[in-house]
Amino acid sequence: MPSAQSKWWQSATVYQIYPRSFADSNGDGVGDIPGIISRLDYLQTLGIGVIWLSPIFASPMDDNGYDISDYQAIAPEFGTLDDFDQLVAEARARGIGILLDLVVNHTSDEHRWFIDARSAREAAYRDFYVWRDPAPGGGVPTGLQSIFGGPAWTFDERTGQYYLHQFSRRQPDLNWENPALRAEIYQMMNWWLARGIAGFRMDVIDLIGKDVDRGVTANGPRLHEYIQEMHRETFGGSDAPTVGEAWSATPEAALLYSGRDRGELSMVFQFEHVTQQWHETWGKWQPKPFDLVALKRVINRWQYALADDGWNSLFWGNHDLPRAVSKYGDDKGFRVQSAKMLATVLHFLRGTPYVYQGEEIGMTNVPFTSIEQFRDIETLNMHRLHLAAGLPESDFIAGANANGRDNARTPMQWSAAPHGGFTTGTPWIEANPNCAEINVEASLADDGSVLAHYRRLVALRKELPVMVHGRYQSHLDGHPQIMAYTRTLGGQRVAVIANFFGRPVAADVPEEMQVAGKSLAANYSPVSAIGKQVLLQPFEAIAVGSQ
Ligand code: NOJ
Repeated sequence: MPSAQSKWWQSATVYQIYPRSFADSNGDGVGDIPGIISRLDYLQTLGIGVIWLSPIFASPMDDNGYDISDYQAIAPEFGTLDDFDQLVAEARARGIGILLDLVVNHTSDEHRWFIDARSAREAAYRDFYVWRDPAPGGGVPTGLQSIFGGPAWTFDERTGQYYLHQFSRRQPDLNWENPALRAEIYQMMNWWLARGIAGFRMDVIDLIGKDVDRGVTANGPRLHEYIQEMHRETFGGSDAPTVGEAWSATPEAALLYSGRDRGELSMVFQFEHVTQQWHETWGKWQPKPFDLVALKRVINRWQYALADDGWNSLFWGNHDLPRAVSKYGDDKGFRVQSAKMLATVLHFLRGTPYVYQGEEIGMTNVPFTSIEQFRDIETLNMHRLHLAAGLPESDFIAGANANGRDNARTPMQWSAAPHGGFTTGTPWIEANPNCAEINVEASLADDGSVLAHYRRLVALRKELPVMVHGRYQSHLDGHPQIMAYTRTLGGQRVAVIANFFGRPVAADVPEEMQVAGKSLAANYSPVSAIGKQVLLQPFEAIAVGSQ
């Protein structure tokens, strides 16, 4: 049975909106809040309970809004505060809460705090940021590199010191050691909570406790103290879902962030299943061949570690990652089957599932051919650096097409109209040319669509406590082609078995997986019992529940 600790957001599905690319209501080529409001009915029929809204705050958009110049204003291209209030109200009327994206590791260099801070060493807000003298003899204070490439320090001529920026030089890091900064952040969070938002997604929250003088960026010594203070000063005592983005998190750390008695967050959004596919030296720009056994090892580790305490976020993609079906499925020969397989495998796991806009219709990576078509600051920076280091242009484009962030940022494909019906103007980034075939309108008209499959999974999670709270047990761990697991709650059991490849596979099924009852999800013919042996078609996934 669901325990007394059970929370509403455990059975809800979160849908992530990247506002710039979701729906443009005024033809300026940029998505906006009225556009989102016009699509709430669609999201309601999908069944989601929460929208994670990527940043909509005032920003020069150096990093598409992850560089905030005013935490309490809306970017004019996205709309007004009135539009935002209307979004909160209209979403609530449909049973949907809004998670705001809290970007408080850094601001924009156009934030008034930074403008003041860089005006003089004695400036009132100087200590809101991280300043250091040049190294003895000159040059950067430390060798720390920015995540977007190049040094993480930029020299400020006027005041003769360097400031820290772990992302672009236009995203100066905030100094969380300063209690006045922390108080301002909490006040701002309370202001948004009072406007009726449901909770927060917290951008790179693992970086706020940094101790740069000791070379520590992620997971710093005071990190959990800050999060506990934030909890006490803001959302603590409410049922607000909070999800901390934490690339550095281990399962042990996740228990600190999300343990029930810790007074911190609801869950962490961690990436070990993503990064285990990356090259040791070259990261995502040099992907490794897909290894299902390694992927399962990571998923299992997290499922087991957070079995009794803490909570997982479940996702394949977001605005920083390639499209799920292109990365883990086959977006050519088996697009529909593999997108459904991935959805099935994910939604039956223990944790809260996240659907990234367009994933629910099986949107794919984009086949850009020239660097001119890319927009992402990270890709453009890396292009410059990698070409200067001798990488051929075509290799870089191939890497960017496989793993670059723009794959997830092309316009949402609503219909077969020009630019996928996203805008009547010229979109800020080109739509995927496959929008004429892959779009919401076509999906709604097709019972066998990826969308219909997602709707079913999202609904099932609200109906079946075993899907939310059941004990997780993996099976066939060493099998290179199949992922299999069971969820058990009281006398109820669900067995999930999936083929991750484009060729059929037969396997002997362990006893605990042999479940008879009814088909819960299928991407070929429904299967109501799993016996001693199973034969799976390319990318077939079945979920069977005991009666
Ligand atoms: C993580 C966000 O998801 C990403 O889009 C952004 O560029 C960095 N944090 C910096 O805010």
